[in-house]
Amino acid sequence: MKTIDELLSEDVAGKRVFVRADLNVPLDGTTITDDGRIRAVVPTVKALADAGARVIVASHLGRPKGAPDPAFSLAPAAARLGELLGADVAFADDTVGASAEATVSGLTDGGVAVIENLRFNAGETSKDDAERAAFADRLAGLADVYVGDGFGAVHRKHASVFDLPQRLPHYAGYLIATEVGVLKKLTDDVERPYVVVLGGAKVSDKLAVIDELLGRADRILIGGGMVFTFLKAKGYEIGTSLVQEDQIAVVREYAERAEKSGVELVLPVDVVVGPEFPDLKTKARADATTVAADAVPADRMGLDIGTETRKLYASKLADAATVFWNGPMGVFEHPDYAEGTKAVAQALLDAPGFTVVGGGDSAAAVRTLGFDENAFGHISTGGGASLEYLEGKTLPGLAALED
Ligand code: 3PG
Repeated sequence: MKTIDELLSEDVAGKRVFVRADLNVPLDGTTITDDGRIRAVVPTVKALADAGARVIVASHLGRPKGAPDPAFSLAPAAARLGELLGADVAFADDTVGASAEATVSGLTDGGVAVIENLRFNAGETSKDDAERAAFADRLAGLADVYVGDGFGAVHRKHASVFDLPQRLPHYAGYLIATEVGVLKKLTDDVERPYVVVLGGAKVSDKLAVIDELLGRADRILIGGGMVFTFLKAKGYEIGTSLVQEDQIAVVREYAERAEKSGVELVLPVDVVVGPEFPDLKTKARADATTVAADAVPADRMGLDIGTETRKLYASKLADAATVFWNGPMGVFEHPDYAEGTKAVAQALLDAPGFTVVGGGDSAAAVRTLGFDENAFGHISTGGGASLEYLEGKTLPGLAALED
């Protein structure tokens, strides 16, 4: 994989460089609630601009349906990028149309422009190779060189991620190079004990990675909404907690496999329950209580790991040489259900080894709960991307940068 340093060793002044970033940040209206992904691409954009390139930054945001939708505009992200760069950033209100063409032709050496959401075009995400190719051809017309730096999207076989780099000289940006370097440490020759903490809502999103980790990790600690499928598989009462009934058999088989292979699969011993999923806007308090993991009342929903579980998980992390954490332990956005996620974040900070936080939600949790992100070994900008990397899959956006 050629990196941006090779590109910068040539004369890039005046060249139009297409930077595929991942500016898919959480928004509240037009307010960015966590700008981590924008900050993560700044070193690449700045290095190119400082070298006199004409930089075109492109990204998706959310999942619009292949047509313009103002709720998913990249305008707020473009404005934030300008603030972080301390420079004017032009904005094209389409992706490959008249505005994009005029904006790119208006760039001077060292100038930066953001074009509108790639997913406002059906060709970006199309499963049809020809439709994606046609869109990639149009994107290629805007630029001379491609730099892939949207790590969070490298697992998507999308036009700007997979097809476009095949049409232009291509390089990996600093963010992709760093992310891949870190994840390699977890897959090639990992230092042990290797402890993985998995949370988040849906167990189905994590099955493939658990499958792979059962042959690799020493301990797997489970939390978040997904844990209730594991608890139900053990025959526990889980009240109205989230459950994926169709995954119970798979989860049971994983627990058996863990037992046979000596991998510790650790489940909560207690959970915090409430009457319903909390209102995240008003943050209204309800009567949250802690109950044993096998005794969730029929009318209560599990929303965080309990006090004893926090201590248990901290003890399982205390001697870790390597930790990978993906997914919050509870509904951390609400004060009644944030303590489990906080405790795991703190246990990672206290762990002696190398700690990696993967995934938009866990990364946002770490930041919104007030932790110093620099205290962790690495905070990945990729959720699905880092999981698929650990699963050992070929990621289209990395494969396309290989040759
Ligand atoms: C992410 O948020 O994980 C990436 O930006 C990819 O987004 P997607 O899941 O909508 O493809």
